[in-house]
Amino acid sequence: MPDPHPTPPPTPKPQDPELFTWEFATDPYPAYAWLRENSPVHRTTLPSGVEAWLVTRYADARHALADHRLSKNPAHHDEPAHAKGKTGIPGERKAELMTHLLNIDPPDHTRLRRLVSKAFTPRRVAEFAPRVQELTDGLIDAFAAKGEADLIHEFAFPLPIYAICDLLGVPREDQDDFRDWAGMMIRHGGGPRGGVARSVKKMRGYLAELIHRKRLDPGDDLISGLIRASDHGEHLTENEAAAMAFILLFAGFETTVNLIGNGMYALLTHPEQRARLQQALAEGDTGLLETGVEELLRFDGPVELATWRFATEALTLGGQDIAVGDPVLVVLAAADRDPERFDRPDTLDLSRRDNQHLGYGHGIHYCLGAPLARLEGQTALATLLRRLPDLQLAADPADLRWRGGLIMRGLRTLPVKFTDA
Ligand code: HEM
Repeated sequence: MPDPHPTPPPTPKPQDPELFTWEFATDPYPAYAWLRENSPVHRTTLPSGVEAWLVTRYADARHALADHRLSKNPAHHDEPAHAKGKTGIPGERKAELMTHLLNIDPPDHTRLRRLVSKAFTPRRVAEFAPRVQELTDGLIDAFAAKGEADLIHEFAFPLPIYAICDLLGVPREDQDDFRDWAGMMIRHGGGPRGGVARSVKKMRGYLAELIHRKRLDPGDDLISGLIRASDHGEHLTENEAAAMAFILLFAGFETTVNLIGNGMYALLTHPEQRARLQQALAEGDTGLLETGVEELLRFDGPVELATWRFATEALTLGGQDIAVGDPVLVVLAAADRDPERFDRPDTLDLSRRDNQHLGYGHGIHYCLGAPLARLEGQTALATLLRRLPDLQLAADPADLRWRGGLIMRGLRTLPVKFTDA
């Protein structure tokens, strides 16, 4: 006779979601929802073999980004000596260019950030707006008659490179070299091998020489501004200025490519939101563009995980003990979809006002280039919608490929079609 009170089968133990797979790169949000719910500070093995903590809840993420016990200096990593230099942690390459804002702590960080802030001012960015518009129109002119384009390669990729080169004071005739070097880095994920290493070396050599030239013959560009900047009689050394120029290029390039790429993709796949934005722009109302770009950063931002942090002392985060030397990765993309912080977090709402997203980070490393990123993002998206009003995706979203890097989230290609302009 069957047992009238059978023991219920054990509730299946929730499985850790599979991270860093192809499916995960395409849509990481379900895995992040699982982690927020079940393992908000989660120990995982990264594809490089390094063990790290992933922080996925908004409150913990914001806290971690501002916690001085989490250092940016890779020297605090406890990775065994034999693995050093092979983990993909940028500072382990030890090149001079790697001693930059994202790899250092106070007091060095405070000094360098104060100096660069004197040269890279919101005013300099505001004055740059006409040039960003000109660059944007020039790139659209180049493909407008074709009726189709790959918005990543023909638009989102070159725009920030030319913009930063212009801002820094790289002569126009040399900017295509930067486009090639940056292309190599973006295609190969910034790893230390082969062509990428050569590109970094060439960029470094170029920047060192440019800084030297600008010292002798300054202009009103950002590199001359960096050389001139002083604080209590202190200046940047040539090495520091080169590292600063490099981080401005590096931090401001792929991020902006992804803001334009992910942002346009979200608009193309949310036609009602896109129509609202197009309507507002046609009526000369830029309010929705401003809140909209912030929402696109929250909804599917360019930086999936903040850059590396390492515990300098034992600490507890979100109820989880973290040991000295452990790497901590703050998952901005997960925090920005946390239902504890955002109403209807998986809904794209361009008019969202209560939107303190972490897309630009938080605390002392908050994105230095946010004003420039906003300018480029708003100009790029508004101009595309205005000039190519019937722009449509020319591929099935399921066929689009996402670059599978650890820190960034972005599309490899974004094929579109439109009526010839
Ligand atoms: C830092 C995001 C564009 C320069 C950061 C951080 C984030 C971020 C999340 C903090 C990383 C951390 O704490 O680990 C973005 C996004 C952008 C963007 C989403 C585009 C939409 C730019 C641009 C520039 C720039 C255009 C400059 C030209 C920097 C610099 C830092 C930084 C220099 C380091 C600041 C510091 O450590 O004090 N950015 N960024 N970023 N960003 Fe951006």
